[in-house]
Amino acid sequence: MLCTWGFYAANAQTAITAEMNRVKLSFALDGEGSPVYAVSFNNAPVVLSSHLGFVLQEDKSFFKGFELTGSDKRSVDETWQPVWGETKNIRNHYNEVTIHLREKASPNHLLDIIFRVFEDGVGFRYSFPKQPNLRYFVVQDELTQFHLAGDHKTFWIPGDYDSNEYPYTTSKISEIDNKEMFEKSTDIAVRVVPDRYCVQTPLMMKSDDGLYINIHEAALSNYSSMQLHVDRDSHTLTSALVPDAVGNKAYLHGPFSTPWRTIIVSSTAAGILESKMILNLNDPSKIANTSWIHPMKFVGVWWEMQTGKSGWNYSDYPDSVSTTGAPIPNGHHGANTANVKRYIDFAAKNNIKGVLVEGWDTGWEDWFGNWKENVFDFVTPYPDFDVKALSAYAASKGVHIIMHNETSGSATNYERQMDTAFRFMNKYGYTSVKTGYVGKIVPRGEHHDGQWMVNHYERVAQKAAYYHVMLDAHEPVRPTGLQRTYPNWLACEAGRGNEYHAFSNGNNPDHETIMPFTRLMGGPMDYTPGIFKIQGYSNVPGRQIHSTLTKQLALYITMYSPLQMAADLPENYEEHMDAFQFIKDVPVDWDDTKILEAEPGDYLTIARKEKGKNNWFIGGITDENSRTATINFGFLDAGKKYLATIYKDADNGDWKTNPMAYTISKITVDQNTKLDVKLAPGGGFAVSVTATGK
Ligand code: NOJ
Ligand code: CA
Repeated sequence: MLCTWGFYAANAQTAITAEMNRVKLSFALDGEGSPVYAVSFNNAPVVLSSHLGFVLQEDKSFFKGFELTGSDKRSVDETWQPVWGETKNIRNHYNEVTIHLREKASPNHLLDIIFRVFEDGVGFRYSFPKQPNLRYFVVQDELTQFHLAGDHKTFWIPGDYDSNEYPYTTSKISEIDNKEMFEKSTDIAVRVVPDRYCVQTPLMMKSDDGLYINIHEAALSNYSSMQLHVDRDSHTLTSALVPDAVGNKAYLHGPFSTPWRTIIVSSTAAGILESKMILNLNDPSKIANTSWIHPMKFVGVWWEMQTGKSGWNYSDYPDSVSTTGAPIPNGHHGANTANVKRYIDFAAKNNIKGVLVEGWDTGWEDWFGNWKENVFDFVTPYPDFDVKALSAYAASKGVHIIMHNETSGSATNYERQMDTAFRFMNKYGYTSVKTGYVGKIVPRGEHHDGQWMVNHYERVAQKAAYYHVMLDAHEPVRPTGLQRTYPNWLACEAGRGNEYHAFSNGNNPDHETIMPFTRLMGGPMDYTPGIFKIQGYSNVPGRQIHSTLTKQLALYITMYSPLQMAADLPENYEEHMDAFQFIKDVPVDWDDTKILEAEPGDYLTIARKEKGKNNWFIGGITDENSRTATINFGFLDAGKKYLATIYKDADNGDWKTNPMAYTISKITVDQNTKLDVKLAPGGGFAVSVTATGK
């Protein structure tokens, strides 16, 4: 088998294999002493013979001239419980092989490569053992290859050092070229894409034979983010690490293990979404007492700023002060006490636990685009935001205000202020924070996805944990499963959210059918679903949400997150309280998840079981095409009756011409029920299923 995959030059004595059911990994040293590996699924090649190794500042050829000094094998089969998640139990089942290599030439540097073979693919990492001649070293390039077996269909965004907020392009590998997308994406605040043939991970692919393949990384810590350079002719992807200000990729101190490179493979699209490999490759929780961590829904003084009804800033200019030195109000400030109370009231009335308030702190007059080092101090409210009174008011109503710490990209400033900021949160009863990194990074020259910032985001998660604060990071590097290690890190944005419908041309109707297979593979997304006023929220002609109203409901299920915003304005929800009932009812933590139907780029139907209860919630979405979803309720308990409330597009619904027409109906269902639901073009549906006790 080795030969068929291009291991011709491989040295047979060094060949090592490991397998698990249909997945097989092969490793060998080639004639040059370079490490190569291959992966097959069901005896068909997935990754053909592909090189491994590095260019280090201290060793420019740390990819060849190796000899094999030994290997170890072990197997693990364990089950663990996440603090929150899509399922109650997670099985971690793999066969592992660790390969020990030594360079033949003096000073005989050592390198280990650890492969874990799961039922649904392979994860591997490099490990630099403790060694006297390689203690402090600099990675100039990582040369990991993924030589794919065909010219697959791919769902990709440009390999940008600072942003993951692009719309997806669907193309063959041989057609990948990000230049046009990069150039036209003027709606993205900071874009740096030096290589037109480079893409971000998670990269989702489908072969002509119907095999689904996903490449990403797990446990990205103290290292830079991996992008993939595409060789369009050979279908070879090569790791391209995000550089720092002087062009280096990572500064390491051995012993050190890199993040895991993950190749998830499945014969079904659902199998990709069901994979727990990335979580399994992350370390268990470093937080011993997690009793203060609670998934939740929230509303926010937010969409009104996004749509221009109000603003973040209190004055129009930083220097607009009166003769007494007081800032001159512009009369347009959203985060004022009366308005915030209105949101607190709405949340309390509807059993929503959080109220995000943006624009409450001084600094918003010139926060963006100036590459300033000191923008916000994270503790000084504007004069019309009464922090003490509002915290007390929220507490009296059983809700919490969510802190907003926009850093404007100045991570150095945030690091200096962090303890002060978190103590302020503790003092006023804030239990969670949304951070933000809009703008070019300070330290200047660093990128959002480089090693320095990767470390910064992790330090923030650690600091937040120390102060018992939950975290939602906007504009960070895309997640790699670290939420297992820091379960207070509930969600990230790190992708193109619903908000793009406010300030740009928005997201294509197939966007949400792709995101679970790409961005969400690494962790939950704060997508901010639930916009009910689909048209008419913007003065820009033609601007609207590219979805129907009931598709917005479905997103609470299909876009998994333990933190879900009800993003629209209270007054817009008040027009449709019958549909809002679903948002009131839908939980954010689950005992079980069933992927009922899935095809990236086309459609997705998911059923989830509420944590600790016998209730199920189903969401289904489609792209620009109408379709009929078939729900097989076989997952319900035998012999029990349930009440299903179905929120769906009206028969003449259409995201473009009739997006807010829906129907709500109730039927009794049981384990034998099969239900067809019609989705409008760009549409979706949601179902709540509660046990009737019969
Ligand atoms: C971008 C974030 O995604 C958005 O949610 C926030 O309102 C703005 N930055 C301002 O911080
Ligand atoms: Ca499609």
